[in-house]
Amino acid sequence: TKFWAVVPAAGVGKRMNADRPKQYLLLAGKTVLEQTLLRLLQADVFSAISVAISEEDPYWPEIPISCHEKIITAAGGKERADSVLSGLKSIRDKASDDDWVLVHDAARPCLTASDIHHLINALIDDEVGGILALSSHDTLKNVQGNSILGTLDRSHIWRALTPQMFRYGRLKKALEAAEGNPAVTDEASALELLGLQPKIVEGRPDNIKITRPEDLALAQFYLEQQ
Ligand code: CTP
Ligand code: MG
Repeated sequence: TKFWAVVPAAGVGKRMNADRPKQYLLLAGKTVLEQTLLRLLQADVFSAISVAISEEDPYWPEIPISCHEKIITAAGGKERADSVLSGLKSIRDKASDDDWVLVHDAARPCLTASDIHHLINALIDDEVGGILALSSHDTLKNVQGNSILGTLDRSHIWRALTPQMFRYGRLKKALEAAEGNPAVTDEASALELLGLQPKIVEGRPDNIKITRPEDLALAQFYLEQQ
């Protein structure tokens, strides 16, 4: 079995509130997207990396890594799940249903090669696959309006990160079945809707998603620390 990576990179970065999509902001001398792709290439396990790029994206052709022999592009879609499905379709002639696909957000540039290998080693013999995740340090409240209805049992609550690792054929089917469903915000949720139970593998807390302006400085700090 082979390993493939799909990187959704077609978002507009509304919450970042910058002059361009956040994946093209500079982080330690390179764009966020280049940093992310370099991490995936460093892991040295992928047959190819499919990057979903928005149709009106003038930045992608300008970055040197867009010509890398292991990197191919797909058209981004309306929602993240549409972009991921497009990425999967772009490798349909090369990938087998049993191959593993790791889906990783373009906006998570601090992923380490060790976390990629940790995820793969933990799940390679698993039937379904699973995701990197983190437990929550904060106490979590169930709230309606501004009133607290209760406190969640934190031992059962995990925060979903990426990469998320599933078999090619099953992931494609799950995302096709879930098309247009707003509740499907990651790959695992699409498989959950098919009645499957993906596994969690504890990831590193520095694998943050750049979402708001202050996250860029934090990502820079983490890259320096690594
Ligand atoms: N993404 C995508 N296609 C979309 C929407 C999102 O490929 N239609 C990608 C983003 O580029 C990002 C990842 O999915 O790498 C995670 O999404 P998010 O952090 O929400 O990014 P944006 O949607 O760009 O940001 P925002 O929600 O603030 O607009
Ligand atoms: Mg978004």
